[in-house]
Amino acid sequence: MVEETTKPVMKKGVSSMGKPQPIDTISLAPEMRLSTGLAEFDRTLGGGVVPGSLVLIGGDPGIGKSTLILQALEGLARTGCRSLYLSGEESSQQIKLRAERLSVRSDNLYVITGTCIDEVFERLEPLKPDLVAVDSIQAMYTDNLASAPGSVGQVREVAAKLMTLAKKSGMPIFLIGHVTKEGAIAGPKVLEHLVDTVLYFEGDRGHVLRILRSVKNRYGPTNEIGVFEMKDSGLSEVDNPSRIFLEERPQDVPGSVVIPCLEGTRPVLVEIQALVGPSPLGMPRRTAVGVDHNRISLLVAVLGKRIGMELGDQDIFVNVAGGLKVDEPAADLGIVSSMMSSFLDRSVDRNVVLFGEVGLAGEIRGVSQPELRIREAKKLGFSRCILSRSNLEGLGHLGDMELQGVKTVQELYDSLFR
Ligand code: TYD
Ligand code: MG
Repeated sequence: MVEETTKPVMKKGVSSMGKPQPIDTISLAPEMRLSTGLAEFDRTLGGGVVPGSLVLIGGDPGIGKSTLILQALEGLARTGCRSLYLSGEESSQQIKLRAERLSVRSDNLYVITGTCIDEVFERLEPLKPDLVAVDSIQAMYTDNLASAPGSVGQVREVAAKLMTLAKKSGMPIFLIGHVTKEGAIAGPKVLEHLVDTVLYFEGDRGHVLRILRSVKNRYGPTNEIGVFEMKDSGLSEVDNPSRIFLEERPQDVPGSVVIPCLEGTRPVLVEIQALVGPSPLGMPRRTAVGVDHNRISLLVAVLGKRIGMELGDQDIFVNVAGGLKVDEPAADLGIVSSMMSSFLDRSVDRNVVLFGEVGLAGEIRGVSQPELRIREAKKLGFSRCILSRSNLEGLGHLGDMELQGVKTVQELYDSLFR
């Protein structure tokens, strides 16, 4: 249960209602996007920052959100955009220290600290920034409500005020939000419906890789990702993520296969690892990291029923190396192959990639964009690709890549292990 304070709102209603007009007569203003200087960030946004947009960047505490936004603001400041970084969490000295570490230097980038959003609005008047970043939305409060900063009511109210400001002034605003587990502090989820764009900054704190993913975007495709590496001197862009994801791949080890999956518009090769072994427990374990747990149970059932490979009494661990999350059905073929490979203790040819969806009848179904996936695999030196027969039939000639279409799980088994 979350307590919310309400108040009578909108005394002077600003009418934003327009006249109904035929869709053909609406004119499109030429789109003008601002560049952050970070190509990965721009792509995730759908090609840059749209004026007047409200962008929410969510992520676990300590993942690097403040670092990312500071670097992006510097990039924007460099293009002549007067940027304001509003921090409710750190002192100006702390921000300066981080800026030193990142070698961020610009006389177009302003810093202000404080937590009362109404006061901040007053400061905005004389400065007239072109762009504002609020770090974090949970630290801000408005005097209109009595509840504590970070409560659902406060977070919504502050965000709504910023939304009005963005739409009225045409100034893009970035909001940073911590993902929280407890209910006391409202996480970015309560704002998703309100803002134009929602980006999540993900990654494992133990790993250097960070992934910026768009989960909602009114100005571009969703599921687009940008990949960064956290270094001593800040975040650096990774323009070829496949290479990073495959860097530490063990060669010729049972249970390891590579799949080309699609993240937004971009193909990325990732390694799927499985470990299958007899379970000492009455109820064998099924552990999945980076793939859907239920998908594994489903695929195990298909293997048992369609090719007689009984994994019911085995512990099964499946992991996507590098910390990426794969939720495409196209990964099915990879998961199935890695489980078979580990169970049989026979490795899959290291030059093979595979993709396709597995149905309950054991059939292999086609997936979208096969050509894009195959080209990416080719770029990274793979020479053989196993895909669904229906995908294969729609493909033209693709150079010296050996393509093999399979129709059932049995055919897949035959082509990998016979
Ligand atoms: P930060 O941006 O403060 O995280 P958030 O705002 O999401 O809470 O960054 C936190 C971590 O990043 C911190 O543990 C240290 C690390 N870091 C680096 O490794 N290199 C750097 O250059 C910076 C600035 C931070
Ligand atoms: Mg921070």
